[in-house]
Amino acid sequence: MEIRRLGNAETPPYDLLLLADPSLVLVERYLKEGECFLYEMDGEIIGVFVLLMLNPETVEIKNVAVSEAMQGKGIGKQLVQAAIRLADEIGYRNVEIGTGNSSVNQLALYQKCGFRIVEIIHDFFTFHYKEEIVENGIVCRDMIRLRMELS
Ligand SMILES: CC(C)(COP(=O)(O)OP(=O)(O)OC[C@H]1O[C@@H](n2cnc3c(N)ncnc32)[C@H](O)[C@@H]1OP(=O)(O)O)[C@@H](O)C(=O)NCCC(=O)NCCS
Repeated sequence: MEIRRLGNAETPPYDLLLLADPSLVLVERYLKEGECFLYEMDGEIIGVFVLLMLNPETVEIKNVAVSEAMQGKGIGKQLVQAAIRLADEIGYRNVEIGTGNSSVNQLALYQKCGFRIVEIIHDFFTFHYKEEIVENGIVCRDMIRLRMELS
């Protein structure tokens, strides 16, 4: 999978980024502090993720998203794998990713990619998001943190 960095003069794909995180304030913060990567098909951006350094040894994958029409075709898994490879190439030792307690498919995806659950931040979403988030009939309240050690 060929991914590329978002150019300095380029508008970030907010439609995709906001699919993964409905908070524009937080999305803008990750974009400023991290690096945004894009996946294109036929000249159209259909996938995105942001890499955010947490400390010199650890990077977090933020805002993984695939355009709605292209979901469920294996692109998300390839994006997560590409992000892990990139983190490894840059020289990080650990990769982290966080998701909501209600994000059942994302939890499956990340564990299939080799991440293990390491922490739960209780009430993260209730505290940081004004609008209630409900997925799969479950209220999103807690952040599940997952981590992978790179060899
Ligand atoms: C999460 C997301 C990036 C996954 O991308 P995707 O291209 O749809 O996912 P893939 O086709 O690569 O599927 C990977 C795994 O996800 C799970 N999955 C994806 N779509 C699913 C669906 N409709 N139902 C059940 N499981 C699903 C499966 O476990 C699947 O594994 P499998 O291929 O072994 O069956 C994508 O759905 C998306 O952009 N969602 C909105 C944004 C978002 O929630 N981002 C994550 C924030 S934490």
